[in-house]
Amino acid sequence: MVTSSAAGKTILLGEHAVVYGRPAIAVPVSDLRATVQITPISPGEGVQIDAADLGHVYRLDESYDDDDALPLQTTVRNALYAVGADPDKQALRITIRSRIPIASGMGSGTAVATALVRGISRHYRQPMAPDVVSELVYRTEILLHGTPSGIDNTVVAFEEPVYFVRGSGVETFPVGRPFTLIIGDSGVPARTRYAVDGVRRRRESDPARYDKLFDEIGAIVERGREAIIQGELADLGQTMTENHALLRAIQVSGEMLERLVCAALEAGAPGAKLSGGGIGGCMIALTDEAGAKDVTEALYRVGARRVMVTVVR
Ligand code: PMV
Repeated sequence: MVTSSAAGKTILLGEHAVVYGRPAIAVPVSDLRATVQITPISPGEGVQIDAADLGHVYRLDESYDDDDALPLQTTVRNALYAVGADPDKQALRITIRSRIPIASGMGSGTAVATALVRGISRHYRQPMAPDVVSELVYRTEILLHGTPSGIDNTVVAFEEPVYFVRGSGVETFPVGRPFTLIIGDSGVPARTRYAVDGVRRRRESDPARYDKLFDEIGAIVERGREAIIQGELADLGQTMTENHALLRAIQVSGEMLERLVCAALEAGAPGAKLSGGGIGGCMIALTDEAGAKDVTEALYRVGARRVMVTVVR
């Protein structure tokens, strides 16, 4: 039996605009992970994907009438081909578990796909470099997101803070001073694909306005990156809050996200914003060690379903 895992992620700055070629920054959330266990079973039994949290077992050679089966089956098939194994001739039980909230902008689908690819690479003793893992997971992202920028698979496969521009190489960068992010789950389900489709439709009807908003987001990302490198956390917070205002302008915020962002700022967070696709899902707030408790309590008070803390170094 082999096991593997992959981290969740959060987008610090630049979501949505990144789909249109502007830069974005994403960080791994290493203590929230998806894990995969692969066990050989009797020949002839085929490949069985046990999505334990969903309570479903999917066979690789059957089709299912739900949204979850195809991305899992596609990931497993692509990974098996990549290690030179014929998917129709394998006999494996693949069990998936994840602590990452689903449909909340924390990259749960990406982490599951990454853990699957890593597990298959390990089971067949065919090591894969992070860029190879990332490329395979990107193919699954297309099914999950429609027109993914590639930022999610990149940050999860490399498991380091990344500065990402679509179509360019991956760039990691130094974090001048570690900082704490509080992640508040709004409890409102949000499929990234719908949010991304909505932005595309609105941009098509007003390209000039949207491109200007995307440019403004891009400029904020550059400032944020400099603030992280210099360890200027007040400046980083400022960029996050400004980014949130622009995400609101492109209509990807939501009532609950607004409530959480306001509560975090009122509780003293130097910056807060929605993170990821938006509409629902998660928001993030920057804090220092002293402020983390106040912000966490404030988020629960206004109805956060779950609050998580991660340190970016
Ligand atoms: O997976 P999420 O919900 O964190 O969002 C991904 C970020 C987007 O910019 C909204 C989409 C993309 O493909 O980059």
